[in-house]
Amino acid sequence: MPPFPVTSYGIDYMPGDVPGPRARALVERDSQVIVPLGRVYPLVIDHAQGCEVWDVDGHRYLDLQAGIAVLAAGHSHPRLVQVAQAQLARFTHVAGTDFYNEPMIRAAEKLVSLMPGGQGWQVFFCNSGTEAIEASIKLARFVTRRQNIIAFYGAFHGRSYGSLSLTASKPHQRRGFFPLLPGSFHAFYANPYRPPLASDPARVSATCLDFIERQLFTTTCPPEETAAIVIEPIQGEGGYVVPAPGFLAGLRALCDRHGILLICDEVQSGVGRTGTMWAFEHEQIVPDIVASAKGLGGGLPIGAMLARDELARQWAPGAHGNTYGGNGLTCAVTHELLCMVEEELLANAASVGAQLIAGLQGLQARFPQIGDVRGRGLMIGLELIDPASGAPDHDLAEAVMVEAFRKGLLILTCGASTIRLCPPLVLTPAQADEAVQRLALALETCLAG
Ligand SMILES: Cc1ncc(COP(=O)(O)O)c(C=O)c1O
Repeated sequence: MPPFPVTSYGIDYMPGDVPGPRARALVERDSQVIVPLGRVYPLVIDHAQGCEVWDVDGHRYLDLQAGIAVLAAGHSHPRLVQVAQAQLARFTHVAGTDFYNEPMIRAAEKLVSLMPGGQGWQVFFCNSGTEAIEASIKLARFVTRRQNIIAFYGAFHGRSYGSLSLTASKPHQRRGFFPLLPGSFHAFYANPYRPPLASDPARVSATCLDFIERQLFTTTCPPEETAAIVIEPIQGEGGYVVPAPGFLAGLRALCDRHGILLICDEVQSGVGRTGTMWAFEHEQIVPDIVASAKGLGGGLPIGAMLARDELARQWAPGAHGNTYGGNGLTCAVTHELLCMVEEELLANAASVGAQLIAGLQGLQARFPQIGDVRGRGLMIGLELIDPASGAPDHDLAEAVMVEAFRKGLLILTCGASTIRLCPPLVLTPAQADEAVQRLALALETCLAG
């Protein structure tokens, strides 16, 4: 039970200071001992349930960021808590690369059943998104015996050296860390709202595909030395960008023409977030390798690389491995989470996501600063602009995020000026309405200021 009385605050009213005295004291203690890499806002969580979070001073927040798109079933879902407690009492860890355990096998079976065709895939478990990408890069290089990997401007694939070499969304992520992995190249993502290469908006996919075929392949990156193309089916950190129609299908065809593997990074967009198990399903393509993490663990750390059978079987014993992957506790929770995704969360993400997008489009009609509302399911972005020039308004996006926090709504930004909404997939219709109202208040306050 929450240690504070749970009050239903008025929609525009947050009592007392935010952060309050207990939060301020903890922020100060944190600053003495935790490496200071920059916090987004001073939320100090005390407890949480579903889509609601209470801080240490008793303030209630509606959570539309889910610990950066992680908590697919919301905070502390009773089904996951029960499974975790039972598994914790049984065993937790056995080193899944070296030994066997049933929770790991069940989680992998369930995951494979949710892949295209429901079979013919193998799973490698790790502990995070960046590790899933590292495994994908290594497998692609190993089986093709080629070196080059192509990713996209705006991409975020993680921060370990291989994945960082593909990450290209913000300069501070790379500054100070060069040289990166040789053989890493970048191409243009088919962003329909801000078409790259001054392309005709109707031809944005074709222009971006042509760039790879006619520029990259003919100048710096020979296709016969290219192992893989890595793509987020919806760009996450880069701004919640849904690619123009045909882009993913065009990439699939391009890869097939050149014997290049297609890797989909579903770390943020997968596990039901977009209303389908994987975001690539919206474009009817099938990749060769899929990287998953975030939502997969229901809040526990896990990553997974899924590869087509004939690729995965080529890895020699000892070619890759880790200590914690296939952890019994995490895999038991992952299995239960995947059952929930299949039974209820997919459908809820699709329907409440559509309602939320409609509500945000209503806001767009009121606020010319909302240049674009986009997304699928519960992966939704609002790009904030200067209405006079159409340029991204980074400062406004940051200000709205912080003001929303003061108004009891947890959101994040991404890209140059996008507000991202990635709530737990258990968000209710009433909570979606509440989120739109709180966001409107935050926008009004910022624009008045
Ligand atoms: C698409 C994508 N790939 C990879 C990662 C890296 O995941 P992790 O932070 O778990 O290493 C992220 C994290 O935000 C991501 O959004």
